[in-house]
Amino acid sequence: MKARIAILPGDGIGPEVIAEGVRCLRALQLRGGHDFTLIECPFGGAAIDLTGEPLPKTTLTTCQSADAVLLGAIGGPKWSAPELKVRPEQGLLALRRALGVYANLRPVQVHRALSGASTLKSEVVTGVDLLFVRELTGGIYFGEKRREAHQASDLCVYTVEEIERIVRAAARLAEQRRGRLVSIDKANVLETSRLWREVVTRVMRAEFPQVALEHMLVDAAAMHLVRRPRDFDVLVTENMFGDILTDEASMLAGSLGLLPSASLGAGRRGLYEPIHGSAPDIAGRGIANPYGTVLSVALLLRHSLGLAAEATALEQAVAAAIDAGARTADIAADGSAVTTREAGEAVLTRLSL
Ligand code: IPM
Ligand code: MN
Repeated sequence: MKARIAILPGDGIGPEVIAEGVRCLRALQLRGGHDFTLIECPFGGAAIDLTGEPLPKTTLTTCQSADAVLLGAIGGPKWSAPELKVRPEQGLLALRRALGVYANLRPVQVHRALSGASTLKSEVVTGVDLLFVRELTGGIYFGEKRREAHQASDLCVYTVEEIERIVRAAARLAEQRRGRLVSIDKANVLETSRLWREVVTRVMRAEFPQVALEHMLVDAAAMHLVRRPRDFDVLVTENMFGDILTDEASMLAGSLGLLPSASLGAGRRGLYEPIHGSAPDIAGRGIANPYGTVLSVALLLRHSLGLAAEATALEQAVAAAIDAGARTADIAADGSAVTTREAGEAVLTRLSL
């Protein structure tokens, strides 16, 4: 299989975790006789330092002509003063929008050996297997922003078409899983949420009658996620609610560092990134958890390259590495933590394909 993959290490721990993801890609390429062209591009704060902008034109065109994009993380104190006009996050939002990747899949599974790693009781989190589908290219993130002397505003807009396509994406995934979909909104307060609820109800009745649909208000969803997380299968929600709830949900798995994501649009091209940030506090020390990135590589193989066997092999290798105790500081018992590189190595030695 021939594929072009854009690699965007970004900032903070981004380059460290990406290095392990790239090693996995290279290993799979060798074993499967694939022809992967990896093209590394500057992005985020690193690109601001280099070119003055977070998403340089050449980075964008490389991503647009690639089969998939693998991204580390962006941002950091150097580029985050509120008065700065150019910010790394603008590059990420512009990239998501330009690639048209409106469906952000964030699966949360609690690994059997890690139910004790969560701050929640293990009997609450054991067996959790849920999938968030976050709308990624609309809502308050992209509405008009205004700043005046004594006030500021961010507009939240959703069109019928934007809601239709995200609910279809989520419903198709629910069909392949346990057939249950929870749609999260704030329909008791927000007009965009009332439209959301109407459209979701209509599409589900007409096109997915076999998927059980439940509507939930976002505040209640935040509560139920920690109270009875096992009851959830697929959850679909708008951009900002999804941002907040997926950080919350990551704690079910024990660490933000474990969770991958795939952002998909109409075609096969996707943007893959761990859901954690650039973690400037631990950057450069070689102790970050690379598993969120390695699992994002697995999603890339499955969704953009159609290499399902490779994807599963990589996921199984990560599970085996965790079982064997290859755990970075965020998920290790005191004194037993491995480095980012050692965790990557533990995956590679268990990769059977
Ligand atoms: C995420 C991040 C981004 C978001 C930031 C960095 C813009 O928090 O991917 O969840 O809010 O979408
Ligand atoms: Mn976030």
